[in-house]
Amino acid sequence: MWSIIALGVGATIGTGIFVLTGKAAATSAGPAVVISFIIGGVISALAALCYAELASSVPVSGSAYTYVYATLGELFGWIVGWGLILEYALGAATVAIGWSGYFSDFLRATFGLVLPAALAKNPFEGGVINLPAALIILLITALLMRGQQESDFVNKIIVSLKLLVVGFFIVLGAQHVHPANWHPFAPFGWQGIINGASLVFFAYVGFDAVSTSAEEVINPKRDLPRGILASLAICTVLYILVSGILTGIISYKLLDVPSPVSYSLIHIGLGWAGAIIAVGALAGLTTVLLALLYGQSRVFFAMSRDGLLPKFFSEVHPKFQTPYVSSFVVGCVVSVIAALAQLDVVADLVNIGTLAAFTLVALGVIVLRRREPTLTRGFRVPWSPWLPLAAAAGSLALIFKGLPALTIECYLLWLVIGLFVYFLHSRHTSSLALEPGESS
Ligand code: ALA
Repeated sequence: MWSIIALGVGATIGTGIFVLTGKAAATSAGPAVVISFIIGGVISALAALCYAELASSVPVSGSAYTYVYATLGELFGWIVGWGLILEYALGAATVAIGWSGYFSDFLRATFGLVLPAALAKNPFEGGVINLPAALIILLITALLMRGQQESDFVNKIIVSLKLLVVGFFIVLGAQHVHPANWHPFAPFGWQGIINGASLVFFAYVGFDAVSTSAEEVINPKRDLPRGILASLAICTVLYILVSGILTGIISYKLLDVPSPVSYSLIHIGLGWAGAIIAVGALAGLTTVLLALLYGQSRVFFAMSRDGLLPKFFSEVHPKFQTPYVSSFVVGCVVSVIAALAQLDVVADLVNIGTLAAFTLVALGVIVLRRREPTLTRGFRVPWSPWLPLAAAAGSLALIFKGLPALTIECYLLWLVIGLFVYFLHSRHTSSLALEPGESS
């Protein structure tokens, strides 16, 4: 059980709280970013309950992809799997960009070393290539190909370190809060709060990564739902505390920087504490990277096993027993994106992919209840179908009320490309196509 919670918290607390809080506070929500976190947390909790029910009824690797495949059929399964590429692969690129910001901070604070902008920033921010972001992805990919993610013990240690650092910030930061910084509380009004919620929603992405490992958990029907809900609860409480304290330490206007949490402490003269936070953030972001890249390779593995992706994605290494081809392809593509992309643009794309998956998972609960009323479920969502409907409505509201129009257009383009691939290729190679009589 602790391993699952460690996996969930390890996969969740990362760039969302360590980086995007600053951007959301400075440009959208102001100190009311706390409310943005509460909104994101409530919607994620509703979706988490739906994930928990499906995880306890369909305990197979592949997360939302598998659930929707099993409940709404192959086409919707494909749409979710295709969308999860945005969640996991682009999510990893986003976290790597956040990692790079804290890495630069760490080098500057500890060794006085300043990386040239050309090598540490993307072309949109005046650089050429974000080299630290690309390199950390390649390093983690190499670890995953060797199977290091199974090192439960190391994960628990790093997650504890991350929680210690977050706790350290809360305790130290609380002593330096000036309530005057909380005024005005919501300088950009409700729309700003909703826009902020759509951006910081990224902080909740990843709790579902726990369910990609369903086949490796001993008692998935009992432990998965509990693990998902407990890790989400821990993260939500910490996010509310950190964002409230952060905006209380310095003015929200100063927070649009690559490493706002350590920056806030450095700004008030606590440079030593800022350096500690930077080290903890680096460790914490690394576990998120591991979880997201691991999740992506497992989703590809499941899709390839169902015949929707080429067979080499489910090829397992003879010695390391990992889906190494899948990891390698994902790692190379993600490192290029991390080297060149702009943080908030990719974060928004991750959010839309995840919110779309939440919507379909929630609808999947309702469909499965109708279709298989007698199936044994280790966990049942209360007040179905209202609660799953609320999860779907909340997710759609964050998409349409909070995300930029460009993000929605990019997602639709991504969806259309995915449908082309499905109808021209995957539909004909899928296991369902090869076994007539079982078609959905
Ligand atoms: N929730 C994860 C993060 O904030 C993806 O980095």
